[in-house]
Amino acid sequence: MALIPYALTRPFLFGMDPEAAHELTLGQVAKLQNTPLQCLWAEARVHDPVTVAGLKFPNRVGLAAGLDKNGRCIDGLGAFGFGFIEVGTVTPKGQPGNPKPRMFRLPEKNALINRLGFNNEGLASFLANVQRAKSFRAGGGILGLNIGKNAATPIEDAASDYLLCLDGVYPHADYVTVNISSPNTKNLRALQSDEAAKTENQNHCLAHQPKPEPGCAPQPSAA
Ligand SMILES: Cc1cc2nc3c(=O)[nH]c(=O)nc-3n(C[C@H](O)[C@H](O)[C@H](O)COP(=O)(O)O)c2cc1C
Repeated sequence: MALIPYALTRPFLFGMDPEAAHELTLGQVAKLQNTPLQCLWAEARVHDPVTVAGLKFPNRVGLAAGLDKNGRCIDGLGAFGFGFIEVGTVTPKGQPGNPKPRMFRLPEKNALINRLGFNNEGLASFLANVQRAKSFRAGGGILGLNIGKNAATPIEDAASDYLLCLDGVYPHADYVTVNISSPNTKNLRALQSDEAAKTENQNHCLAHQPKPEPGCAPQPSAA
């Protein structure tokens, strides 16, 4: 059982700016993960397996993308007992995201408004972190890697950003999420149109011919 109850830390963290509290907490998790001090927050993982899309999840409770955008706390967050963890969104190049302040607490609604805009250190740093993580996946946890486009990349060139990210994350992910839904990157949701989705899907299939996936159109043969 965790040695530090959330009820004890919450007043302290809520006395800080939301992003500063987030950075402080993740920084400590990054530092203490895979050490004996991980017992401060570790919980036994509930064993309630379920298989979805060929992936065997140890339980149904996962952590959504956005909390660990750089994938630096996979093992430490895994120690909370999650069955799956999704990290990112990562973009090809590091970028600062939207101007601050950009995260707002609404305590009376138990809610948060987020206008971060894919702040992250970029693909190379993300991949190094993901490859350093060891205990979560080794213990059967499912890892999702979430990819996006840089704010500075014109929307017409978005596919090249997604392909770059896909190439990088593909060997290290149990599943990949293509983020085309964030409201915090200009025009991103235009990629949800049928035409854009078709191009993305074709590019994805072409890039990964050796491992074709369900839903990919058959490739033209070189007759
Ligand atoms: C601060 C914050 C940052 C987020 N960043 C991302 C992100 O980078 N990529 C993403 O796909 N979703 C991101 N999300 C969305 C979450 O992954 C999740 O879909 C959303 O919070 C809804 O789930 P919930 O109702 O359990 O909070 C973010 C959410 C929050 C609150």
